[in-house]
Amino acid sequence: MLHVEALSKTFELSVTEQMRVHPFRDLSFSIPEGGFMGLAGPSGIGKSSILKCIYRTYLPTSGRVRFRSSMYGEIDLASADERRVAHLRKYELSYVSQFLKVIPRVSALDIVAERLLPLGYSLEAARDDAAGMLARLRIPETLWSAYPATFSGGEQQRINLARAFIVRPRLLILDEPTASLDRETTESVLALLQEMKRQGTTMIGVFHDWEIMKRVADRIFDLGEWKRSGVSSSAQLI
Ligand SMILES: Nc1ncnc2c1ncn2[C@@H]1O[C@H](COP(=O)(O)OP(=O)(O)O)[C@@H](O)[C@H]1O
Ligand SMILES: [Mg+2]
Repeated sequence: MLHVEALSKTFELSVTEQMRVHPFRDLSFSIPEGGFMGLAGPSGIGKSSILKCIYRTYLPTSGRVRFRSSMYGEIDLASADERRVAHLRKYELSYVSQFLKVIPRVSALDIVAERLLPLGYSLEAARDDAAGMLARLRIPETLWSAYPATFSGGEQQRINLARAFIVRPRLLILDEPTASLDRETTESVLALLQEMKRQGTTMIGVFHDWEIMKRVADRIFDLGEWKRSGVSSSAQLI
């Protein structure tokens, strides 16, 4: 489903050679359909940058991100044109970070429901589904018509998750999705992830807590170990 091949990212912090950062070079791994790969390693090693290269928030410096899409067949996300990337983000890819891009003056319910409108849902059906998802993520009903700009960090994160989950993406990219959630909400999120995985969603995720990651991932790629051992062609299996 996803084949990352010889992926590298260089950040040019200034025009001089000394000011370059290379979080990863020549990185390769594959995730089969319905697979869940956890990405581990210490802070600053490059986990978020890898996820952003897959979602194309960052343009990789070199390498390929081959994704089997339903719209275009196999496509290299590292070189696909912007229009196709935008389409895939609407229909097939979801990315969750710890931070909500808050949209002013749109209610929590509608921020989630609007994700379904391009998929052909009526506003009413989209709001129904969104309500179900907000309930599963334990957002109190009193907040559904409120603006998430005023929400706590944990509440905003749940809105983010609801927006990502509601479309049932083919590929779900998770960057510390449970970092600011309480125990019970984390359990609800894990249950949803397991359910989506059973339905065939392919996932790659970074979790702040190794124990949580082990409960959902089939395989954990340890970036620290990979950098130390120099093994670049296969994931470390746990
Ligand atoms: N947009 C950027 N510009 C410059 N450097 C960046 C940028 N994004 C990440 N980096 C650098 O890349 C390295 C890896 O960062 P990151 O991918 O956020 O690590 P992690 O998620 O594992 O903590 C860090 O040294 C970070 O400073
Ligand atoms: Mg990070």
